Amino acid sequence: LPVALPMRSIVLIGLMGAGKSAVGRRLAAQLALPFHDSDAEIEAAAGKTVADIFASEGEAAFRARERAMIAELLAGPPIVLATGGGAFMDPETRAVIGARAISVWLRATLDVLLARVRGRTHRPLLNQGDPAEILSRLSALRAPVYAEADIIVDSTEAPPDMTTETVA
Ligand code: S3P
Repeated sequence: LPVALPMRSIVLIGLMGAGKSAVGRRLAAQLALPFHDSDAEIEAAAGKTVADIFASEGEAAFRARERAMIAELLAGPPIVLATGGGAFMDPETRAVIGARAISVWLRATLDVLLARVRGRTHRPLLNQGDPAEILSRLSALRAPVYAEADIIVDSTEAPPDMTTETVA
């Protein structure tokens, strides 16, 4: 039939270290959909790293960039999109994701998240104190909102390559 299937984009959400980029890349390959990473696209558009945006413009400006980028990425044909850990916490971004995509919360235990992000200095939020405390606080704040995702997947028992998630 000459009728397009109403396929929606898939958006991965969850804390830093959950494996959003690694799982997203694999999922995109399996579904033969383009893969995008909102942090990487924001960096490319801004010409500076997420850490530099936080440092020079502040978190609110980063969230505004993130909101605009995610809306733009989800305006087109279906993709698999890995978002930064805070993206789904923004009400407008959450609304755009809800309207245009299927959201998947990748959930893992704090121990595993911490092991995956340990020593990675490109995450500005983790450089403001003890990463274990910060992750634990963010987890408590965000879990109730992440739970609004359409699908919840546990990524604690990850395939080995998920633990090399970093490369940003
Ligand atoms: C953030 C997570 C980061 C990045 C920024 C803020 C957050 O992305 O967007 O440092 O608020 O949790 P990852 O979840 O890919 O590390």
